[in-house]
Amino acid sequence: LQKAALTQQALAKERRELREQQRNQLLDSIPKDLNRPWVDPMPEHGERQVAQALRGISEQAADMPEWKKQSFGSHPTFGKVTKLSLTQQRESLPIFRLKKELLAAVLDNQILVVIGETGSGKTTQMTQYLAEAGYCQTGMIGCTQPRRVAAMSVAKRVAEEYGCRLGQEVGYAIRFEDCTGPETKIKYMTDGMLLREALVDSMMEKYSVIMLDEAHERTIHTDVLFGLVKQLVRRRPDFKLIVTSATLDAEKFSTYFYNAPIFTIPGRTFPVDIFYTRETESDYLDAALICVMQIHVNEPPGDILLFLTGQEEIDTACQILFERMKKLGPKVPELVILPIYSTLPSEMQSRIFEPAPLGGRKVIIATNIAETSITVDGIYYVVDPGFSKQKVFNPKGGMDSLVVVPISQAAAKQRSGRAGRTGPGKCYRLYTEVAYKNEMLSASVPEIQRTNLGNTVLMLKAMGIPDLLNFDFMDPPPTQTLYMALESLYALGALDDEGLLTKLGRKMAEFPLEPAQSKVVIASVDFGCSDEILTITAMLSVQSVFYRPKERAAQADQKKAKFHQAEGDHLTLLAVYEAWKNSKFSNPWCFDNFVQARSLRRAQDVRKQLITIMDRYKLEVISAGKNYTRIRKAICSGYFAHAAKVDPQEGYVTLAEQQTVYIHPSSSLFNKNPEWVLYHELVLTTKEYMREVMVIDPRWLVELAPQFFSSCDPRKLSRRKRQQKIEPLFDRYEEPNSWRISRQHRRK
Ligand code: CDP
Ligand code: MG
Repeated sequence: LQKAALTQQALAKERRELREQQRNQLLDSIPKDLNRPWVDPMPEHGERQVAQALRGISEQAADMPEWKKQSFGSHPTFGKVTKLSLTQQRESLPIFRLKKELLAAVLDNQILVVIGETGSGKTTQMTQYLAEAGYCQTGMIGCTQPRRVAAMSVAKRVAEEYGCRLGQEVGYAIRFEDCTGPETKIKYMTDGMLLREALVDSMMEKYSVIMLDEAHERTIHTDVLFGLVKQLVRRRPDFKLIVTSATLDAEKFSTYFYNAPIFTIPGRTFPVDIFYTRETESDYLDAALICVMQIHVNEPPGDILLFLTGQEEIDTACQILFERMKKLGPKVPELVILPIYSTLPSEMQSRIFEPAPLGGRKVIIATNIAETSITVDGIYYVVDPGFSKQKVFNPKGGMDSLVVVPISQAAAKQRSGRAGRTGPGKCYRLYTEVAYKNEMLSASVPEIQRTNLGNTVLMLKAMGIPDLLNFDFMDPPPTQTLYMALESLYALGALDDEGLLTKLGRKMAEFPLEPAQSKVVIASVDFGCSDEILTITAMLSVQSVFYRPKERAAQADQKKAKFHQAEGDHLTLLAVYEAWKNSKFSNPWCFDNFVQARSLRRAQDVRKQLITIMDRYKLEVISAGKNYTRIRKAICSGYFAHAAKVDPQEGYVTLAEQQTVYIHPSSSLFNKNPEWVLYHELVLTTKEYMREVMVIDPRWLVELAPQFFSSCDPRKLSRRKRQQKIEPLFDRYEEPNSWRISRQHRRK
């Protein structure tokens, strides 16, 4: 054994040296002036001034965003350039030459780690190769994706290549959307979906092969799947596992998966010149747009990829850029501006793959979805401001929040690599080289170590894995976060005081919702208001129901105010949905009322899906009619931990954590300041805002969450507390109440 270990070590060392050698060769082949700081490529005084003058046009943005019409409307030349046939495209991918070797490696090994540059064909081709080789005779070929968009867009592409309609032989499944059928052989899905399936079928009997794609992303779902399939391969010798990754972290995956062999698809990449800014940019969005325009005006043909952090920012950027381009007039060649983010409707997403108009170019403005999940050919220029949105867990508030953080060095490298797929490219990093070297982490922290574990713990418990502290995580989550998840599940009644899953907890795990929301849905049956709660749950799960164009903001606000309910936003959302229903789900009605029809239709879909689950578990759908108290109590029974009380000084203070928070300006309760409220989520922008706020009666807290709150003996209270008359049972921050865990340990 020792000998074998030594050989492994020697091999690893050899591989490392080889890689180092390859890297050096690559570096040698790159022009010497590579690292010269990025000097303004638009030095002429005149043009610079034009660029300066163009800043600030955004304020006059039109009501109907014209850029959207330009990006997605019919276009005379866009997309008309002749393309290679699908077969030609498939055969030109780096993976094609290795088809035989790859299939042989799969045949010989139960687990295979595959690494290869993004765009080499791993995601779209390997599943098809496996299908051709007959692996779909005994089950489906499943391929997980960390992102919904990737799952959909890849499935669509593979269906095209395979020559079937999407949902037939090739399909996809994402939360609240199952596009597969009885003939489906190749199934793309989010990693979260496979995890849900594992809840019902822990042996993953439906699949002959599972490909855990984009493993380097290290999403919490993929990380949990790692642990599950690692056990599974031991129990199902006929099962094949493929783990793919875009980066060089393959050895870590290999080691974790019983030293599985690593199959490398040699990349086909060209050198990329990297430019840094000389000074830190104070406004990265503006700097990025100026950079894009400079490239467009000065650089030879080739498309541009700009990385921003989220939908709102990307839409704003598209709009500003569109206005500025328009100002430049017809002398400048055409620039097609295309956004891409996960919530973009799928028909719009596919536009990014279409070639730019003749003589012009396209700029794709993307979230980090374009880092690895989605590959667009023809990108020669990458603009990287160095930020991304990340979910981080705030153990103090016990909540996840999305914040903009600097990316890691690994992500920066991945981003710049996107410019070198079709030919030698350029990457403009809008940060200094010093910042890159000294301020960026070398790799991002895996999600499991920085998010709320409530859902994950509930799922693992429901899968019958009682001992979470000893679960075989690749990188274990912090123990404190694990304790907190156990505590919050206990408070919800999903776990008993032995830490075992309760009947309620079992049911909660069936819903693809946050534990608190699942609890609300289940409790609503007893409160006799499940009909309304399903609507509210569905409405909360979709984004941006209200539409508020800048120029008609006042009119939009007026319309919105008509829906406002004195009890708060949850019931306001209910009112909107009900009114839409009364209009017979009419689109013109949405338009008149400044409501996003698309969001409502999506909510309608989600509602239907939830009803299917309700039916499966014989949970009744009952209407409360006008009895809003029942609805509010049901919500309170899940979200009691989100209660807050008005602070005489300023804003609100949360009961559980004594944190200062504010009502979001978009809330129907903004400026109304009711004494006791409960919020759906916190968003951190300039302040910590409560979004979707509801008025509550504090007595409900004690009534509905006795494990969490208790009324106190008024004689023992300070004056401040006496006014409040209610307090959290324990201070979760002080001493994690470890007894529950230790008992579990003892049972082992
Ligand atoms: O998974 P990997 O990054 O190795 O590559 P892939 O996603 O399989 O992509 C292989 C090729 O298919 C790329 O050249 C993409 O441009 C193309 N593709 C596409 O045209 N449309 C998609 N929706 C996905 C991929
Ligand atoms: Mg891929």
